[in-house]
Amino acid sequence: MCGIIGIVGKSAAAPRLIESLKRLEYRGYDSAGVATLINGRIERRRAPGKLRELEAVLAAQPLAGDTGIGHTRWATHGGPTERNAHPHVAGRVAVVHNGIIENFAELKAELQAKGRVFTSDTDTEVVAHLVDQGLIEGAEPLAAFKAALDRLSGAYALCVLVRGERDMIFGARNGPPLVIGYGDGEMFVGSDALAVGPFTNRVLYLEDGDFAEVNHAGARVFNAAGDAVRRDIKTVASSAALMEKGNYRHFMEKEIHDQPEGCQRTIAAYVDALAGVTAIPGNVDWTHLERIQIVACGTSYIAGVIGKYLIEKYANLPVDVEVASEFRYREPAIRPDALVIAMSQSGETADTLAALRYCQAKGMKSAAVVNAAESTMAREVDVVWPIHCGPEIGVASTKAFTAQVCVLTAIAVAAARARGRIDQAEEERLVRAMIEAPRLIAESIQLEEAVRSVAVEVAKARDVLYLGRGPMSALALEGALKLKEISYIHAEGYAAGELKHGPIALVDEHTPIIILAPFDSYFEKSASNMSEVMARGGQVVFITDPEGAAHAPAGARVVMTAPSSDPLVAPLVMSAPIQLLAYHVAVLKGADVDQPRNLAKSVTVE
Ligand code: AGP
Repeated sequence: MCGIIGIVGKSAAAPRLIESLKRLEYRGYDSAGVATLINGRIERRRAPGKLRELEAVLAAQPLAGDTGIGHTRWATHGGPTERNAHPHVAGRVAVVHNGIIENFAELKAELQAKGRVFTSDTDTEVVAHLVDQGLIEGAEPLAAFKAALDRLSGAYALCVLVRGERDMIFGARNGPPLVIGYGDGEMFVGSDALAVGPFTNRVLYLEDGDFAEVNHAGARVFNAAGDAVRRDIKTVASSAALMEKGNYRHFMEKEIHDQPEGCQRTIAAYVDALAGVTAIPGNVDWTHLERIQIVACGTSYIAGVIGKYLIEKYANLPVDVEVASEFRYREPAIRPDALVIAMSQSGETADTLAALRYCQAKGMKSAAVVNAAESTMAREVDVVWPIHCGPEIGVASTKAFTAQVCVLTAIAVAAARARGRIDQAEEERLVRAMIEAPRLIAESIQLEEAVRSVAVEVAKARDVLYLGRGPMSALALEGALKLKEISYIHAEGYAAGELKHGPIALVDEHTPIIILAPFDSYFEKSASNMSEVMARGGQVVFITDPEGAAHAPAGARVVMTAPSSDPLVAPLVMSAPIQLLAYHVAVLKGADVDQPRNLAKSVTVE
C-alpha cells in the first residue's frame, strides 16, 4: 500500500509534503517523491529507499511552490527505483496513486499507439498520460480528469496536479481511502486523517467513485456519475501526540508498552464495569445466532482464531475463521443466517474487504472489528466494534492485536450469557477477569529483561518453532509471524500436539523452541511435548505462569513466568513475551523494526 498527499497551500509545499509523508511512511517505504507547481511549471524530486533519501535530495535541490503532491511507495508494478517512484509526470500532468490500475497494460498500449512515450514500468503512469491526452484534445482539466477515471478499472486513490492551473489539485477514490482536509484558506488531500493531521483536523471522507476538484477556496466533490454531491466535513481527534515515539526507540516498542492502556480502553467500551456485565454495541441476537464467520488476514486472522476458541468454549456458538484471501475465491458454502465479522486494524485490507462484501452479498449480517473508525470496512458493515488503542504505526501489529482479542473476549462472555451457558454470577466473575487483564498485561511486560537475554540466543537461530495448545496454539502462530516479519528469521507456529506428526524432525540442539503453556487444562500435554523436544536436543524457552513453572519438567533452557490469569484472558496476558521477543531479536539483528522490508502497514491491494 502507498501513502499520498496533496497540498494547495499558502506556504512552501515541499517541507509540508515531507512532514505528511513521514506520517504515511508506515504504509509503504521503498521509494518516495514530491512535485510542486512553480509559476505554472511542474518540478519534481524523487528517490529510491526511505523518505530520508528524498529529504537528502531536497536538501541538495530545494523545491519551491505552495501547491504540490507527494507519495511514499510500496511497489506493486515496477521495482522500487527512482524511475518508478511517484509522482509520475506526462506533459502538463503529475500524478500520485495508491492502488492498482488493473487494465493499465491495455491503456498503455493504446496511448503508446498515439505516440505517447512512457518512462516507467508502473501502472500509475497511464493516469498522467490519459489526463494529459485529454487536455491536448481540448478538454478542461476537470473533464479530462473525469474522462481518465472513466477509463480505469481497479483500485485507486489519486492526486493529480495540472500545470497551468496554478492552485488546483484533483483527487479521486475507488477502493483505497482518500480524505480532503480543510485548512484556513488552504486545502489538503491525503490517504487518511493522519496524513493531513499536521495541517487540519477537519476532514471529508470521499466515498468510492467520488472525485474532487480542490483549490484554495475549497473542494467541489462529484460522485461516479459526475453529479455534484455533499459529503460531511468531520472534526477528527488530533493525532499529533499519538504519532510520537516518546522515549521509545521504535513505534513497535511504544505500542507494546501501550497495550495495558489500549486494552483497558477497549474493554471499558464492551463491559459495564459497575453492573459487572458485558455491553456489546449493536443488537446482535446472540441467543439465536447460528454461526459466526470471521474473515481476516495476518495477525488479525490470528486474533480471530483466538476468538474462535473463546466463543465456542464459553458460548457453544460455532465460529469459522478463514484467511480472507482464500475464503473469497473458494466459493464457500455459506448460509445467510450467520454473522460475518471482518477483523482488520486498518479497516482497508483488500482481501478482508472483498471477503466481507462476499458475505454481505449472500445476505449475512456484518460486523467489523477495526482500529480506524472511518475506514471503508467501518462504513460498510451493519455493526462497528472499534478497538480503542490509538493509531498503530509499527507495521508489526501488537496493541491492535490484543485490543482485537479484547473485543472477541467480551463477545464470548456476552454470547455465553445470552445463550444461558453461564449465569449472572459467572458473567460478573469473567467481567472482573477482563477488567483485571490490563494490569496483568503490564506485569507480563515486566518480563522484558528476561526476554532480552533470550533474544541473544534466538537471534543466532536459523529456524525457530513456537508451540502451544488451545488458544496458545494461535498465539504460537502470532509469535512466529512477529519474529518472521521483523527479524527475517524463519519461524513456524504449531499446535503442540502436531509436533510428532512431522515438525519434530526439525528439532535439534540448534533449534529454539518457544512453548506457550499457562497452567491450564492443556498444561500436562504441553509439558509432555516439552519433554519430547528436549529429548531431541531442542532448546526450550518455556513461557508459563507461576503454577506452570512449579510443575514444568526440568531441562528447559529458560522458564519465563507471566502472571497467573483466568483462562479467558490468558491469550491477552501471554502476548507480550512473544511480541517483546520478536522486537528484541529484530533490534539485535539491526533490522528496521517499524518498517520491515517488503511489508506495508495495510495491504489495500490483492
Ligand atoms: C501484522 O503484524 C502484519 N503487519 C499483518 O499480518 C497484518 O496483520 C495484516 O496485513 C492485516 O492487516 P489489517 O489488520 O489492517 O487488516
